[in-house]
Amino acid sequence: MTAPNLPGQPYFAYRGNDLFCEEIRLGDLAQAHGTPLFVYSKGAMLAALAAYQRGFAGRKVQICYAMKANPALGVIQVFAQAGCGFDIVSGGDMDRVLAAGGQAGKIIFSGVGKTRAEMRRALEVGIGCFNVESEAELDVLSEVAVAMGLRAPVSIRVNPNVDPQTHPYISTGLKDSKFGVAHERVVPTYQRAASMAGVRVVGIDCHIGSQITQEGPYLDAVDRMLDLVEAVEAAGVPLQHIDFGGGLGIDYQGETPPDAGLLWQKLLARLDARGFGQRQLMVEPGRSLVGNAGVCLSEVLYLKPGEHKNFCIVDAGMNDLPRPALYQAFHQIVPLSQRQDAAQTWDVVGPICESGDWLGHDRALAVQPGDLLAVLSSGAYCMSMASNYNSRGRAPEILVEGAQAHLIRRRETMADQMQSECLVESQARK
Ligand code: LLP
Repeated sequence: MTAPNLPGQPYFAYRGNDLFCEEIRLGDLAQAHGTPLFVYSKGAMLAALAAYQRGFAGRKVQICYAMKANPALGVIQVFAQAGCGFDIVSGGDMDRVLAAGGQAGKIIFSGVGKTRAEMRRALEVGIGCFNVESEAELDVLSEVAVAMGLRAPVSIRVNPNVDPQTHPYISTGLKDSKFGVAHERVVPTYQRAASMAGVRVVGIDCHIGSQITQEGPYLDAVDRMLDLVEAVEAAGVPLQHIDFGGGLGIDYQGETPPDAGLLWQKLLARLDARGFGQRQLMVEPGRSLVGNAGVCLSEVLYLKPGEHKNFCIVDAGMNDLPRPALYQAFHQIVPLSQRQDAAQTWDVVGPICESGDWLGHDRALAVQPGDLLAVLSSGAYCMSMASNYNSRGRAPEILVEGAQAHLIRRRETMADQMQSECLVESQARK
């Protein structure tokens, strides 16, 4: 592999003027498959996973990939083959894991709005654990399990009231968020759960937010979680596992989040100090496993210089890559082939009919129509939040493995988009 030359992106590097993913020139993939196009590096995913594995070496841990970050079957397969479990949030997620070869017993089911049908199906296939988010959900789950003659394995998601210091839309562990059971209700909720006929208490979990770039919030959450474990067990409810959720951030724009391995060594030292180091542990990382393993390739359609703003109009939009429009998120944008011309400042925008359809503001780029650009850090929460807005088909996805490029999702056609719809039969024809 060439020397890394894009910060935070060791599996994407220029060789001469051209940007490569592992051993493959990205311009060749764009030519073969068209744009917009998502390209993922399997090596980058496995390297990110290895950091967690190093941190947990010698411990009892189940790393559950939070597949909402990127639910492509080909991506799930990478983590299933690496031995991971999965954090899911819907029956659809579960079907994907099973279709991609994941083990039902290693699935944990999070989310505040599980339906009875989803609970039944999850009990049928024998998932590892339901991360229950409210007392009302606990009642329904017990009822569903009793009707099936089963006991549902349950962990209560607790809200540790820790500020993850991230974007408010992706903060989930604060008191006023809709997630988890409030700190003061945790012990009584466990006591009720332990007495329910359809419930088998197996663990405790939390998840405080996403794109966390400092270790402080994790240290706080670990301390609060361990206090709760002590309180719940003192109340007579033993807990087999402790799940610390996901949330570790990535470098989009020069952020320096802690390395997963080093962070976990530090957190494990705290667990050891309080006598919990040999417990079964779980984590639910999403973004930190796939975010910097992916790029979105796009072609420059038109340049539209203006009095106050210059617009670089590209063929990927907010339907393909919604994070900038949704969270004002920053993604680096770089050319697939570097030009020697002087750079100008451009707003890189998509073709969608909304002013919020932008990918990057005020970017210094030397570009011409027909040039190809890569939007970096696009492996997480991009394709998974893509839509058909403006009747645009969703982009294809390629998984690169060394010098091999596997097409893991073809471009969505208009026939795909329209197949579940029908016209209303007119009265006249009846
Ligand atoms: N576990 C639970 C219960 C979660 O809700 C999440 C993410 C994760 C694990 C994984 O978190 P991660 O390691 O990926 O930070 N669409 C937003 C992110 C939403 C995160 C939702 N929950 C974005 O594009 O930034």
